[in-house]
Amino acid sequence: MRTFYDQDVDPEILRRRRVAIVGFGAQGRAHALNLRDSGIDVRVALREDSASRAACAGAGLAVSTPEQAAEDCDVLVLLVPDETQPQVYERALAPRLKTGAALLFAHGYNIHFERLRPRPDLDVLMVAPLGIGDQVRATYAAGAGTPALLAVHQDVSGEAHALGLSYAGANGHGRAGIIDTNFRDETITDLFAEQAVLCGGLTHLISAAFETLVEAGYPQELAYFSCLHEVKLIADMIQRRGIAGMRGSISSTAEFGDYTRGPRVINDASREQMRKMLKEIEDGRFADELDADARSGFPTLAAGREAAESHAIEAVGERLRAMMPWLR
Ligand SMILES: NC(=O)c1ccc[n+]([C@@H]2O[C@H](COP(=O)([O-])OP(=O)(O)OC[C@H]3O[C@@H](n4cnc5c(N)ncnc54)[C@H](OP(=O)(O)O)[C@@H]3O)[C@@H](O)[C@H]2O)c1
Repeated sequence: MRTFYDQDVDPEILRRRRVAIVGFGAQGRAHALNLRDSGIDVRVALREDSASRAACAGAGLAVSTPEQAAEDCDVLVLLVPDETQPQVYERALAPRLKTGAALLFAHGYNIHFERLRPRPDLDVLMVAPLGIGDQVRATYAAGAGTPALLAVHQDVSGEAHALGLSYAGANGHGRAGIIDTNFRDETITDLFAEQAVLCGGLTHLISAAFETLVEAGYPQELAYFSCLHEVKLIADMIQRRGIAGMRGSISSTAEFGDYTRGPRVINDASREQMRKMLKEIEDGRFADELDADARSGFPTLAAGREAAESHAIEAVGERLRAMMPWLR
């Protein structure tokens, strides 16, 4: 895959444009501050009654509304939650965006699943940070950066890819690597990783292992520390050195258990489920299911939250984390 760094980026392309970041949440805050510190003419676009106005003013950032920003700016970056993007685009942006403006996303979901159909005269691109907003800001402020994915959906100006590189550079991604991809691959791999590993897989693995120990009569505190708290130590090592590198830092006992018992947890049945989950993402069934839940007021999401919050691991975790305030 083609990967770009700061030396491949022309910072002037973005400096010539007025940029609006729509939303001041996890990603919006990081992008707005990074762009400002990179010398970009940037403002934050917030709804009239937004609770984030004071935070923007406190950070010295200019504030506008999405409607005003659409009329004034050349690059609109849609950093409101994915489920609200179609509505914000249709109501506030689509009727007002300048001809030839650029619409930028940090995730390909709405474009890939056609929940949002941008006007044909716009450049449409994506700079998707491979990290949460806090990391995007903290690494930039430390003089480093977070890697990001870059994709172009519509290139009316003929300059969309170079504009994406320029934006990614101003957001600090050129220091770590800007990787070329497309909206489909970013969307599918992101959803699959969330479901199989980062959110669905990991949380259910931790909970099931905790329940197994507690059912067998072991103290909840030991189960919490061994099955949840220590995940970070292993995850940090895997991120720094890879899986094989992490194994170089664990005991032979742990490594022997890894090779001989791990495949009993992740086995042919789990792989078969992963293939089915991937298919459901690819053919749009997952997105349809999410939409149906949203239309009914998210009953599935609410039930999942209620069950998770009342799980025994939360009560013991709250008590133990209170003894480690430095974790907050
Ligand atoms: N979370 C991450 O770290 C992460 C990582 C990679 C990619 N992404 C992508 O980045 C994009 C933004 O995600 P996020 O997690 O940063 O979003 P977020 O934190 O949930 O966004 C919150 C912001 O959106 C605004 N907002 C919410 N609903 C709105 C509406 N109806 N009209 C106008 N503004 C509205 C909020 O306004 P108020 O201030 O008025 O409440 C707030 O400023 C998504 O495409 C996501 O997939 C996120």
